Amino acid sequence: MSSMAASLLIFTRYCMSLILIVLVGSRSIYAQLSPDFYSHSCPELFPTVKSTMEAAINREGRLGASILRLFFHDCFVKGCDASNLFDDTPTFIGEKKASPNRGSARGFYVIDNIKDEVENMCPGVVSCADILAIAARDAVTILGGPYWDVKLGRRDAMSASQAAANTSIPPPTSNLTQLISSFTSRGLSITDMVALTGGHTIGRARCRNYRARIYNEPNIDMSFSRTRRCRCPRSNMTGNNNLAPVDYQTPGVFDNSFFKNLVNNKGLLHSDQQLYNHGAGPTDSIVLTYSYEPSTFASDFAAAMIKMGDIGVLTGSDGEIRKNCRRVNY
Ligand code: HEM
Ligand SMILES: *[C@@H]1O[C@H](CO)[C@@H](O)[C@H](O)[C@H]1NC(C)=O
Ligand SMILES: *[C@@H]1O[C@H](CO)[C@@H](O)[C@H](O)[C@H]1NC(C)=O
Repeated sequence: MSSMAASLLIFTRYCMSLILIVLVGSRSIYAQLSPDFYSHSCPELFPTVKSTMEAAINREGRLGASILRLFFHDCFVKGCDASNLFDDTPTFIGEKKASPNRGSARGFYVIDNIKDEVENMCPGVVSCADILAIAARDAVTILGGPYWDVKLGRRDAMSASQAAANTSIPPPTSNLTQLISSFTSRGLSITDMVALTGGHTIGRARCRNYRARIYNEPNIDMSFSRTRRCRCPRSNMTGNNNLAPVDYQTPGVFDNSFFKNLVNNKGLLHSDQQLYNHGAGPTDSIVLTYSYEPSTFASDFAAAMIKMGDIGVLTGSDGEIRKNCRRVNY
């Protein structure tokens, strides 16, 4: 072999390995989410989501809470892949009728509205999973909570799981041990769990989900339970869907009053009050800190939302970019 050929061979190998490094490198870059994922492909994405969320919340204040909850229910089932946005059809069972969602998950049309506007601007580019993540952030910020940069680049699932939706979203009957294992099994810490449950500073719950607490539990403020009993009769023959604010003080403001309520035995859901047990519980110190340091709650909530948004995401060429968030592409 001539020295020319030898050095060409070495050069070729060197280049091949460079190309390989570049390929492997770009793969791991694609596998990670980043806030500027759409900065060239859809530059007006953020203002579009924000203005639609503002309009929706002006029309109906509760929609901010409903969208935040949709994001949680997406991420805890098969990861943040918009699997909970599918409609059921005669041949497809989605997650909307799973027990934690049925008669309760709402706000889907707001995501549709955002998706329609985004599709007009940048067709086939932005996933429903990313739209939901941005919309949830905007809901929190608009209602007075923290702002954070949402990491993007998620792709949309092509399947859903009603069974996983039934079992993976913690029910309000959960005890602290069950709550901790539900969150830590998804890579979220106990602090993340307490901070994220602070999402209950906004929105409403149905009587069926807090009846047992206001009639049967000892660790509840008497005047609080008396008030709640007025619109949530003891018998489950009526009133199951009557609504009460989860944070009785400021259900339309993203503040730290949810944690003050827990310290005062005024948590509405059994699972909420599990986070505070009068100095005896393992999460009591976190609840106390959030109850008197709103800025610590705000920054921990933002950090935990970013972590939750990383759960089980599809990236690269996995999944698809749905055109209509309610069904797979044809
Ligand atoms: C810790 C475990 C959790 C349990 C057991 C739980 C349970 C519930 C229940 C039972 C409701 C009322 C549903 C109804 O009656 O229709 C509710 C509402 C809500 N949840 Fe949770 N949740 C949990 C965590 C979270 C997290 C992590 C978030 C978001 C970060 C969140 C956000 C919300 C919001 C905003 C509402 C009000 C929705 C609306 O008004 O439409 N929840 N939750
Ligand atoms: C999920 O729960 C609902 C309501 O309890 C039930 O009707 C449905 O059969 C369950 N689905 C699966 C796949 O377990
Ligand atoms: C929590 O609930 C589970 C399931 O019902 C039960 O096995 C466990 O003993 C409970 N833990 C506590 C601390 O109550």
